[in-house]
Amino acid sequence: MANFDRAFIDQVLSSTDIVDVIKEKVNLTKNGTNFKGLCPFHSEKTPSFNVSSSKQFYHCFGCGAHGDAIKFIQEHDNLTFIEALTKLAQAAGLELPEKTKKNDTYYNLFISNKLAAEFYSRSLENNSEAKTYLENRGIDQGMIETFHLGLSNNKWDDLTNLFSKEKIINNAIEAGLVIKSNNKTYDRFRNRIMFPIRNSTGNIIGFGARIYNSDDGAKYLNSPETKLFHKSYELYGLYECKKDIAKEKSVIIVEGYTDVIGLYKSDIKNCVATLGTAFTKFHFNKIKRYTNKIIFCFDGDAAGKSAAWKAITNCLPELKDEIQLYLIFLPEGCDPDSYVKDEKDNFDNLINNPMPLSEYIIEHLGTDIDIKTVEGKTSFALEAKKVLNQMPDIMYTDILREKIQQMTGNIILKKNQATHDKEKNTSSDTSQEFDIKELTLLNLLIEYPMLVKEFNCEHIITEKTLINIYNVIREEISKNENFTAAHLLKLFPNNEAVRSIVTFESNEKSEDSARVTIQEIFHQLELSSKEKVYFELLNRYTDGQSLSEKEREFIKNFKK
Ligand code: GTP
Ligand code: MN
Repeated sequence: MANFDRAFIDQVLSSTDIVDVIKEKVNLTKNGTNFKGLCPFHSEKTPSFNVSSSKQFYHCFGCGAHGDAIKFIQEHDNLTFIEALTKLAQAAGLELPEKTKKNDTYYNLFISNKLAAEFYSRSLENNSEAKTYLENRGIDQGMIETFHLGLSNNKWDDLTNLFSKEKIINNAIEAGLVIKSNNKTYDRFRNRIMFPIRNSTGNIIGFGARIYNSDDGAKYLNSPETKLFHKSYELYGLYECKKDIAKEKSVIIVEGYTDVIGLYKSDIKNCVATLGTAFTKFHFNKIKRYTNKIIFCFDGDAAGKSAAWKAITNCLPELKDEIQLYLIFLPEGCDPDSYVKDEKDNFDNLINNPMPLSEYIIEHLGTDIDIKTVEGKTSFALEAKKVLNQMPDIMYTDILREKIQQMTGNIILKKNQATHDKEKNTSSDTSQEFDIKELTLLNLLIEYPMLVKEFNCEHIITEKTLINIYNVIREEISKNENFTAAHLLKLFPNNEAVRSIVTFESNEKSEDSARVTIQEIFHQLELSSKEKVYFELLNRYTDGQSLSEKEREFIKNFKK
């Protein structure tokens, strides 16, 4: 976001009403001065998603999602900052400054990837050997088009030339398409079938590349990590399959690019694949926005079994009662692509009767253990406890614990109360509790920036973090009278204290009533800070220290 024209962003934000923006996507009802609805970023039955018209930001008390109108569009539509900004600018009838476009690296990388994909696509059309390879694998023209498959030629300088011509070679290097080493530039992908990897809005963020006519090098090569491409976050096929994921109300997670394509060809279109990494909590949090039913599909061999346990342990801490995880295991030696081709009925059958997560956990924990013996029950309970401890405090965990307890002769598997409390304490340390008066004060100052000049709060606020924030607010408001909570959130992303301030409901309807409240707070805070001084002096006095004339005077007056 580095090179953005701040003034233009402010112009877009002030020409946009966040309530209108969100109303298009979320059913909002008026709730006092705010609006309320079901959070689009997590599944919930009672609304905890709040939109404030006066503060021009949203906040979900359920999942913590928050931000301004740009952030909402970014998150909701899965867009980059510039894309979201563009969308809002267009809606407000504002033209994006050329400078802003050119300076956006995300935009440039998307364009580079698109250009490369189009080149790869033409190369595939012109190469009958590669087309025959795909044909033999059952990948027809329809699949080539749906997944935008292509080919990198057996050359070192195809893309290097293409991008040199356009004078955007640095973008190609940054996108990982071209490698620069010892002052030489050359193509990263050569002689491979190219699988463009798109983000959920369809922009290409990277490529997977498979050898097809040689045994030279790794079977697959991926784009390197770039600003756009993070292997352990992305899912192949999400863009192509998201409609069907919604339609089927479930998603099947597989391991390979060709698995997604093979299943798609066989009319199982609600699939995505990881990109050669384990299934991470980031994947989990991404996919759960599309569906509540997640079915993992693994090979039945040792590698598949170990990948399954890894994926599950990554998801456990993130589980929610609304989300159901299932697993299916294919016979040894099969992958989804081959199995669906040979035994579609059996595959359908597996998908329709997947193993629920609880059953899988119990089965996995019980491997090689004889639960009929005391020793077996003990080791089973020990392992089970470790797993249960990783799970969140939800009904699902309670029910699973209950079930495991029954199997082990009702041993208590609850978390040790002491450690439980300790964990609770440490976690609440991070979301520090601030003085309610100080929070109200800062909240009002943001809501009514004109009042900042009237009250000097420097010596009134005691909490260090809040003093820092106050100083920033004062500075910013002196430069910009239209400073809002959204600006503050942008200046302090992920700051607990700032979130506490902006989400605090001070409920003042006018500047005048806010002024009276601030005066009252001033009075109380002054009192309590005087009280503090009084007790300090008193302590010193009773310790036998001598006090100055002024200090004695203070004690005397305070008592009055
Ligand atoms: P096909 O052999 O073409 O059917 O592909 P596949 O997806 O079935 O391959 P496989 O099951 O061997 O691997 C699953 C996934 O792991 C692939 O889709 C890749 O994402 C990744 N992968 C496999 N081999 C390699 C490799 O050599 N290098 C890298 N980086 N990733 C690989
Ligand atoms: Mn395969």
